[in-house]
Amino acid sequence: MYQKQLVLCAILFASAMACNKGPDVGAKIAAQKSHSDSGHVNTQRIIEADSEPENWLAHGRDYAEQRFSPLTQINQSNVHRLGLAWETPAKSARGLEATPIVVDGVMYTTSTWSKVIALDAKNGAVLWQYDPGVERAWAKKLCCDIVNRGVAVWQGKVYVGTLDGYLIALDAQSGSVLWRVDTLIDRQQAYSITGAPRIIKGKVIIGNGGAEYAVRGYINAYDADNGELVWRFFTVPGSATGPFEHPELAIAAQTWDKNSAFPGLGGTAWDSIAYDPALDLLYVGTGNGGPWPQHIRSPKGGDNLYLASILALRPDTGELIWHYQTTPGDSWDYTATQHMILADIKIAGNVRKVLMQAPKNGFFYVIDRSTGELISAEKYVFANWAESVDKTTGRPILTEFGDYRHQEKYVFPSAAGGHNWHPMSYSQNTGLVYVPAREAGWVHNDAGDRWFEWGTNNIESLIGDQVIPKTAGYLKAWDPVEQKLAWQIELPNTWNSGVLSTAGGVVIHGSADGHFYAVNDHTGGVLLDIFVGTGMIAPPITYAVDGEQFIAIMAGWGGPAFNTLKGNEALLDYSNAGRIMSFKLDGQTVALPTPVPARGQFFKPPTVVASAEVVEQGRKDYVMHCGSCHGMYGSVPMLPDLRRLSHAKHAIFKNIVLEGILEENGMPNFSSDISSANVDGIQAYLVTLSQKAFMAQQK
Ligand code: HEC
Repeated sequence: MYQKQLVLCAILFASAMACNKGPDVGAKIAAQKSHSDSGHVNTQRIIEADSEPENWLAHGRDYAEQRFSPLTQINQSNVHRLGLAWETPAKSARGLEATPIVVDGVMYTTSTWSKVIALDAKNGAVLWQYDPGVERAWAKKLCCDIVNRGVAVWQGKVYVGTLDGYLIALDAQSGSVLWRVDTLIDRQQAYSITGAPRIIKGKVIIGNGGAEYAVRGYINAYDADNGELVWRFFTVPGSATGPFEHPELAIAAQTWDKNSAFPGLGGTAWDSIAYDPALDLLYVGTGNGGPWPQHIRSPKGGDNLYLASILALRPDTGELIWHYQTTPGDSWDYTATQHMILADIKIAGNVRKVLMQAPKNGFFYVIDRSTGELISAEKYVFANWAESVDKTTGRPILTEFGDYRHQEKYVFPSAAGGHNWHPMSYSQNTGLVYVPAREAGWVHNDAGDRWFEWGTNNIESLIGDQVIPKTAGYLKAWDPVEQKLAWQIELPNTWNSGVLSTAGGVVIHGSADGHFYAVNDHTGGVLLDIFVGTGMIAPPITYAVDGEQFIAIMAGWGGPAFNTLKGNEALLDYSNAGRIMSFKLDGQTVALPTPVPARGQFFKPPTVVASAEVVEQGRKDYVMHCGSCHGMYGSVPMLPDLRRLSHAKHAIFKNIVLEGILEENGMPNFSSDISSANVDGIQAYLVTLSQKAFMAQQK
């Protein structure tokens, strides 16, 4: 039953002492290292990433995942001169989320459907491309678009995890396949890989997603040379009584009701990974429970380990050293898969080795990364489900607003979180963490076959006396020592890009409405604003080739379609032109993509002949089966607008929905999921939406 229930995912700088400033190498950019062949990254190079700032060797630049670059050629005084050095199409009109890796002048990145592209980082020329041929029907198993967050590069190989669950090693020079393994324990389940692999001590670490569909989460470590499985850590038990695949699961099982909905339960590790070589600890963030409401998943409660947790594992064995659960018994899709940053910072006079995370639940956590002990946790966005985090127990103190067992509740943050996967950045210049945050709530309910409602009419009464924030996106500069806001920039949409900070004193950020910004890291003052015509969600990076510094970002808005844009309308008049852009000082003006005139007009729709009941059933079916891709009301910037279907398209509606005639393009075949009569209902519902839009246009 849960398979069907598609639920949409999930200052004062003076006092912030950064004690681990890297060597001041930013001013001079080392000459490119010459390597006999491509992609020669190893442990030592990643650990010493600061000594070769011209490269971006690993997902978060180094194992600490700070996303702070020592480069200074582009800085506060000249960043306004930034212009396009090159742009290369990514051949995609959907979400692009990858962090490009740059090794010795070559950029490796990914596009939709887990495709890999290698480019000349100086001019954007494509060196090779690889398409893993993801089965298009897999699109139905995804909550949040056909995205991929990037590759790992290691000793001449490029590694990618594919949407349909394969881990593939490519030759960095040619893009040819060296090995390919199936990471899935069950191909019938709705598992998917969107996250970037990390290579730690010669092992490829990769998790997967699918907690929305109640799969069982796990993390894999494969031998980077040959793809052999070294260890697998399950994040939740497969049963109440065993046998347990590893001892940690016996402990975890005690925190679940024995009548839990085994063996699914969620806890997928779909994004964040960090590593501390000195402590030899690998950190992995785990996801939400599946299904969402704990009272369905584990009726008698319990903490439900290891959902919504940060796990510290031994990279050689997968043994769990400590865990910290941010949201015990999670009922709100509050994943702890968000970006984790490691830094050594001075707190109350002592230099502490910390791990910082701003998970979906709205609290910014500073944790001792040697022990897992909580140092501090404060709200970085409005959050009403919990009052605070108890300093002694490390547990949240819940409020009535989070309890939707008997009555629907408007819960903050929303299921998409106060912050989602979009990486943050920790500046060694300012000691601040720049968080691409979001203020938004979400109605959770327990009505019938669903536990959430889109567009409930009841918001006013659910708000009551609470002072709730305006729904918006923010770039928040957060002081992790004082646990308070230094400054923030408000953005019109909640789903914006990841963040980069540099020793040049600039913070780089892209917005959903197509603006590429550089801001002053101390004040948030905008130093540069280039309209690029396409929304950005991917994080920017920086690198240098032949002594010239570049800042690159992938443009292409996407992800879960519930992020409604400007009410019901697509955000931009421009097409979602997926591309990789790289900027440098005195580069060119950005040539905007072609505006999309089709978005302008509504056709006169056919007349609805269906009853109100049929239309309402159609709405429910639409939300359940179509909304994840087409948005709440039929309109997202990445896909054709279903309120603007031509008469010709209406005529072949069933061929599209039930025969899969557009399946190659990513529109799934629903013949095994929805009856023909129910498809009529969906069509009738869409026609009513078109009629409303058409009428509004006539006025
Ligand atoms: C997994 C994502 C996904 C889901 C879920 C999905 N669609 Fe689509 N749909 C697409 C994509 C991608 C396209 C564009 C295909 C193309 O480019 O030809 C599309 C196109 C369409 C079109 C053609 C529009 C046009 O103008 O060409 C119709 C009609 C449609 N979808 C209806 C539906 C309905 C009804 C549902 C729910 C039963 C649904 N879709 C669910 C991804 C999805």
